[in-house]
Amino acid sequence: MGSAGVSLDGDLLAGDSPHLELVLATPEEHLETIRMNSRAWKGLLDLDQYIEREHRLSQQNLTKNGALTCWILVDGRLPPNSRTILSSCETYLKPAYLAYKGNVEEIICHGIGSVFARPEFRGRGYAGRMMEELSKKLDTWQSENQPRKQGVFSVLFSDIGKKFYTRYGWKPYLSSHMTLPPINEDHLKVSVALAKLPVARPMSAEDVRQSMCSEIVEHKQRNLLQVASQKSPGAKVAISPDYDHMLWHWARENYYVEMGVFDDKKPSVRGAAVDSQNVFCTWVRTVGDTKSSHTLHILRFSYDEPASPSIELSTIEAIAAVLRRAQFEAHALNVQKVEFWNPTSLVVKAAKLLDPDAQVFHRDESSICSLKWNGAKQGLGDDVEWFWNEKYSWC
Ligand SMILES: CC(C)(COP(=O)(O)OP(=O)(O)OC[C@H]1O[C@@H](n2cnc3c(N)ncnc32)[C@H](O)[C@@H]1OP(=O)(O)O)[C@@H](O)C(=O)NCCC(=O)NCCS
Repeated sequence: MGSAGVSLDGDLLAGDSPHLELVLATPEEHLETIRMNSRAWKGLLDLDQYIEREHRLSQQNLTKNGALTCWILVDGRLPPNSRTILSSCETYLKPAYLAYKGNVEEIICHGIGSVFARPEFRGRGYAGRMMEELSKKLDTWQSENQPRKQGVFSVLFSDIGKKFYTRYGWKPYLSSHMTLPPINEDHLKVSVALAKLPVARPMSAEDVRQSMCSEIVEHKQRNLLQVASQKSPGAKVAISPDYDHMLWHWARENYYVEMGVFDDKKPSVRGAAVDSQNVFCTWVRTVGDTKSSHTLHILRFSYDEPASPSIELSTIEAIAAVLRRAQFEAHALNVQKVEFWNPTSLVVKAAKLLDPDAQVFHRDESSICSLKWNGAKQGLGDDVEWFWNEKYSWC
């Protein structure tokens, strides 16, 4: 593809040119986008490893069978495989919920990732044009068999602040996190005993599936959305925290283990539970730019909203117990911190029980959770609340 034409007439097209089109990449072009963006994102992997990582991730339940789409902005007059890719991105089809006026619907949404512009042509409006065109495509993309026939919402996680994507309709949502340090086994035992916390059970992948992603849990989640929607008028949406999401994150971690980036075997502990309180959390290790910046990310917390102050206290203690277990796991896996996104007030209280100085940090630049809402034109009102905006939904 080295001899690809920039445009039919050889000149660079303006960002608002009518000849620019957002099209589906061929497999060869998809590979070309991965090669192109590797310079920005391969991190500790070499090029071949990075290409293989992307291949593996594209074979997961969450992404296979057409759920992952690669889009490219090109001169639409040029034939496939001989056109310069001016910018590119990927979309992930994801199961989601919509709750409105007491009704809960199972819908689809799209997660957008890998937004990239060809380095030599940056600042010419190509990425912006791509987002504009993508927004139109996602109005109907993969919705033909859906009851609504129209996209309801899409999300992305901006690493370039809040301004760029807002311009194209993806509004920034709460993007906060807390962190806790790793702790060793002695610290775990002493602190659990001193604070009289319950003991958290380590969970395997299968335990996570049964305790956090079962049909019963799904049913509970729907009920929770329904009740919330009966209580307040605005639409509510959530990306389904299903097992396929967790598997996708773990596949990424496993790949880094195989490549020797993490210096141990695949972890058998994927989360922690205090069954008596119905409190669970699951996590994944993520890779930083250097060995000293790897993180244990909580993908999702799950607990029942407490019905009384005394139940609230025991729920907070149980959340603290699963967090303690995560801190211990972070130590065992030699990662630098435990991080959890958009902590609820109960999770904040639990973290402060463990470390009174722990603070909620609001991000301004990286991983800005952003959502584009198409519900207004479908009679679903102007505003939408994003439920369970946690790390599992990142892509
Ligand atoms: C971000 C990126 C896609 C923009 O591509 P582009 O074709 O140059 O974008 P456009 O010409 O349409 O728009 C340029 C705007 O993006 C903004 N922008 C570009 N890089 C930015 C950054 N790192 N942080 C904040 N804003 C940035 C520019 O400031 C400019 O804003 P302005 O119009 O107010 O001057 C491109 O720089 C890129 O591929 N970067 C590396 C990968 C990346 O960071 N992708 C985003 C992941 S969320």
